[in-house]
Amino acid sequence: MKCEAKEIFNCMHTSINIRKIMALLLLLPSTLLLLIMVFLPLIQIINSNQSSSEVYVISTLNSTTAETRNCNMFSGQWSPYPKGPYYNNETCPYIIEHLNCIKFGQPDREFLKLRWEPYDCELPLFNAKEFLRLVQGKSMAFVGDSISRNQIASLLCLINSDANLVDVTREYTSKDNAGYFKLWYSIKHNFTLTIVWSPFLVKAMDDDPYGYDHSLSRAMNLYLDEPDEAWVNKIVNFDYVIISTGQWFLRPMNFFENGEIVANKRRKEDMEHNLYGYRKAFQTCFRTIINLKGFKGSTFLVTHSPNHFEYEKWNEGGYCNRTKPYTKEEMLKYYNHWNVLKSFHDVQLEEFREAEKEARKKGLQFGLIDVSEAMAMRPDGHPGKHGHLYYNNVKVTDCAHWCLPGPVDTWNQFLLYMMKGISTPI
Ligand SMILES: *[C@@H]1O[C@H](CO)[C@@H](O)[C@H](O)[C@H]1NC(C)=O
Ligand SMILES: *[C@@H]1O[C@H](CO)[C@@H](O)[C@H](O)[C@H]1NC(C)=O
Ligand SMILES: *[C@@H]1O[C@H](CO)[C@@H](O)[C@H](O)[C@H]1NC(C)=O
Ligand SMILES: *[C@@H]1O[C@H](CO)[C@@H](O)[C@H](O)[C@H]1NC(C)=O
Repeated sequence: MKCEAKEIFNCMHTSINIRKIMALLLLLPSTLLLLIMVFLPLIQIINSNQSSSEVYVISTLNSTTAETRNCNMFSGQWSPYPKGPYYNNETCPYIIEHLNCIKFGQPDREFLKLRWEPYDCELPLFNAKEFLRLVQGKSMAFVGDSISRNQIASLLCLINSDANLVDVTREYTSKDNAGYFKLWYSIKHNFTLTIVWSPFLVKAMDDDPYGYDHSLSRAMNLYLDEPDEAWVNKIVNFDYVIISTGQWFLRPMNFFENGEIVANKRRKEDMEHNLYGYRKAFQTCFRTIINLKGFKGSTFLVTHSPNHFEYEKWNEGGYCNRTKPYTKEEMLKYYNHWNVLKSFHDVQLEEFREAEKEARKKGLQFGLIDVSEAMAMRPDGHPGKHGHLYYNNVKVTDCAHWCLPGPVDTWNQFLLYMMKGISTPI
């Protein structure tokens, strides 16, 4: 399969990190594959939140860490910003097709004219030149799922005009595994940027290796104490590693530890089970990074990204048609997946804090990019019904990924802010 630079993200949809189902992949149209990879995990998140009118009174997220001690920039509000986005569908060739909301008929433009304002300080706008100065002679790896791709596409768009990036994937990988990762290089800045597909972070195998089970509820076998080789050796020489994944932990999973099966759960609704796997996967991931021989880079965790299906389940006509952000109060009142988001977020934060202490002892930097609450306030930022994905001639509604441009660009403002904090300690 030929993957042009601007199509890479689509191409990557057709290459799951499991060789054994390659045969299956060839049988499936890419839209169905996208459904499996992207939407299946959402079944449960929706199942566990059937009522959208239920009110959850839970305290908001607490992401105080060493890096945010002077100002928690993840706590704030979305404010009008009439200047609008950094780029558009004409100026950026890296926009993922199905996230190109404006091109495909998203009537709303207001969602592009908002800016994240932390309560206690100012989050600077993204400055491509500043970013490129920081990464001069350096390398950056994104590790994770399609939400991670969403962020790297945003970053590519943000630095595109200054960076002169060239896709050099072919020089570093065989044709066979080209979809597993992607590599860009900027000669001007001697900067290497890569993305490694690893939605579970740990070793994962399809429960149905022969591909007989074509159902959307196929289980995955996760080897919770073994990191996914896809990223382990790739990141050793990288200066920045950005970890971002989550939604896949909502699908049916069997767990293995020490090579033995410890939990066999194909049942759909078991949040405790999902959270156990999620916690272990992050433990294994962080432990591996901290003990990775020769690794000297800075690691950033991007926290769980919220989805905003409303009215019905995602696969039963659920959609997201809001055109305004929530205030924090509205979010706590109306956001129907808040308790699931908070559970996942809390697990991530607990594991991150533990790992950060260990990392510090070894002189390694760990930074937190806590997007969960800010993004829970953006039900208006998804493609929704205005995407252009079709499955069996029916348009797929996407309330999980983020339009490009869109609020996901803010994640890279956070990233740049954190990178500056690390290069000049506060
Ligand atoms: C937030 O977390 C920090 C670190 O765990 C803790 O010291 C602090 O009390 C927490 N703040 C709130 C408001 O829960
Ligand atoms: C960009 O979006 C506009 C709709 O606002 C559309 O008319 C145009 O064809 C798109 N251009 C590209 C290059 O996708
Ligand atoms: C690019 O950066 C790497 C890592 O800092 C360095 O070893 C190498 O010499 C640089 N190459 C050029 C052409 O500047
Ligand atoms: C979203 O859809 C619901 C149900 O169809 C409708 O009542 C509501 O007015 C819509 N909201 C917007 C902002 O269009």
